[in-house]
Amino acid sequence: MKECLQIREKGEKMEDKLLIKIAMEAREKSYSPYSKYKVGAAVYTRSGKVFTGCNIESASYTPTICAERVAVSKCISEGYMDIDTIAVVGSEIKTSFPCGVCRQFMSEFGKDIKVICARNIDSYDVYTLEELLPNSFGPDDLD
Ligand code: THU
Repeated sequence: MKECLQIREKGEKMEDKLLIKIAMEAREKSYSPYSKYKVGAAVYTRSGKVFTGCNIESASYTPTICAERVAVSKCISEGYMDIDTIAVVGSEIKTSFPCGVCRQFMSEFGKDIKVICARNIDSYDVYTLEELLPNSFGPDDLD
């Protein structure tokens, strides 16, 4: 997180690899005693803020929340609507993509959000939310 402050102070763009590293650190906080599948996420805003999240499971299963929605909720609830990028890290072997609910949840805040699906800092794929959730229902449809 120290690196984030330095990046903001210098007005530099967040590096994909640094955001992945922050998501990997967030994954350590995962509370996933049922699936034992740890996920970490890190949101980067255009204003230079970083918000992290991990998956949090529940003994009654349904209330389980994904890492992406935790990170995005923290970001929005702190007043930052300008999401630029989100990095997600689950398995180091097989790429972990955001689930359908998370894709819909994130799309509320921009179809052009960059989504980094990472296995580790050297192995990752980059998509836009539009690519992951084409032709989606969104705020404009309620006009
Ligand atoms: N999970 C996430 O955190 N993000 C996703 O996009 C997919 C799934 C979590 C939820 C649950 O705690 C565990 O992974 C297994 O489904």
